[in-house]
Amino acid sequence: MADRADDRHDVWLDGAHAGTLHRARGGDVTFAYAASYQALRAAPSLSVSMPRHVTEHAPEVTMPWIDNLLPDNDAVRARWAAQFDERRPTAFNLLRHMGADCAGAVQVVPAGEQPQDGAGSTPLAEAEIAAHLRELRADDSSWAFEQHGGRFSLGGQQGKFALARGADGSWHQPTGRGASTHIFKIGVDGVAHSAAAELVTMRAARALGLSVASVESAWFEDQAAVVVERFDRLAADGSRARRLHQEDMCQALGLWRSAKYESDGGPGVRDVAQLVARAVDRRDLARSRDDLARAVVLNWVAAGTDAHAKNLALLHVGARTVLAPLYDLVSASLLWPADEVRYKARLAMKLGGEYRLRALGARHLERAAADLGVDAVWLADVAVSYATAWPDTVRDAAAGEHDLLPGDVAGQFVDRAAARGADVVRALRVRAGGGEASARPGGATWVPAHERAGRSVVGHWRTHPGR
Ligand SMILES: Nc1ncnc2c1ncn2[C@@H]1O[C@H](COP(=O)(O)OP(=O)(O)OP(=O)(O)O)[C@@H](O)[C@H]1O
Ligand SMILES: [Mg+2]
Repeated sequence: MADRADDRHDVWLDGAHAGTLHRARGGDVTFAYAASYQALRAAPSLSVSMPRHVTEHAPEVTMPWIDNLLPDNDAVRARWAAQFDERRPTAFNLLRHMGADCAGAVQVVPAGEQPQDGAGSTPLAEAEIAAHLRELRADDSSWAFEQHGGRFSLGGQQGKFALARGADGSWHQPTGRGASTHIFKIGVDGVAHSAAAELVTMRAARALGLSVASVESAWFEDQAAVVVERFDRLAADGSRARRLHQEDMCQALGLWRSAKYESDGGPGVRDVAQLVARAVDRRDLARSRDDLARAVVLNWVAAGTDAHAKNLALLHVGARTVLAPLYDLVSASLLWPADEVRYKARLAMKLGGEYRLRALGARHLERAAADLGVDAVWLADVAVSYATAWPDTVRDAAAGEHDLLPGDVAGQFVDRAAARGADVVRALRVRAGGGEASARPGGATWVPAHERAGRSVVGHWRTHPGR
């Protein structure tokens, strides 16, 4: 029997036809690169797990890869399947309808269709965005603006949607042809202030020097949103955004989303570090390795309990790959009472062989340094500096967000951050004064943050000249 036309979808990467997905009668999906794409000089592979010099890719890598383009929330998949009369909510079936604006440079369209960029996108009034935020708050599976025919697909569990911002600041519903440029998030259903915690964590991490996606709060009538700027879009000539390619760590490792947590058999710090060492260009490796190490430490200090493999990504620019900017950083240290963080919190990825915050200490960090391939003394310094700066950085990141964070909540964030920072400093067995248990070799003494003459002094190393 000849293939039906809808058994093939084309995959485009930033305007170039990269290849074709083919679904066999049994349901298995394979991917084959187009010869014209393989002939391009400096273009990214669809995935590290599907290199461009190999033409055909088997279902074992293709199927998890495309599945990872879709929401983690099955209720969203079911809703999309119902909307488009698809009997089964498979990735292949859903991408036919929603795949024209995915994470990275990917556009999936029915075979033979052109994803013409520059085709119009629908302008949205403030009231329409407000109405959609209300709808999403009432039902977090309501991602798409169904009445507008909007097309986008993103991973993740939380309610969200993607819009394009015009040069004049106006918001547009991408048709799937024009690219979305921002992601709107409202936080985890039922967890008060979780969107604000995400905004504050992302900003604080950036202030600590990590490379993090830009984030802002925005109001549409009485509805707040945390608006994240996409790092996989490049504004060009004011009207149309170019697409940069990215993939998450599950995609790059050929894994299904069910393996995003290490505790479910997914990748750990060492696996991700080895992937980075393999995939990243030699010229960028030192930087990406350090960025990954900083992210791992930040997620320990901040108690980023949801920092799983789909919350880290590789960015493919041309034929060059780097660790992508960080996104979806949420500090449980801001949301949970200090004792819960101290005694109950577990990391999404083991740090030096341990998930439990209460058990983690300097020796785990030392082991993590070995997993990450970075210097242990440097990593200890990074940890101490983040832990010490955490409360002040959180305070600064929350400042000015009075509407999103009423005074008492902002104050609670700072108090909790202070408790968490102190716990980490303690876990590193760093003491004030004599420095007898200093985590830093070389004779320097750690002076923790303290008040002096009514002013707060941030923690710092005091070296002893002449020693
Ligand atoms: N700033 C960004 N730029 C580009 N892509 C992004 C950005 N932020 C998120 N994404 C993409 O969107 C996906 C979903 O976003 P995000 O991780 O923030 O959602 P989430 O629902 O909070 O996830 P989780 O289920 O991990 O809680 C990410 O996995 C990533 O592919
Ligand atoms: Mg996520």
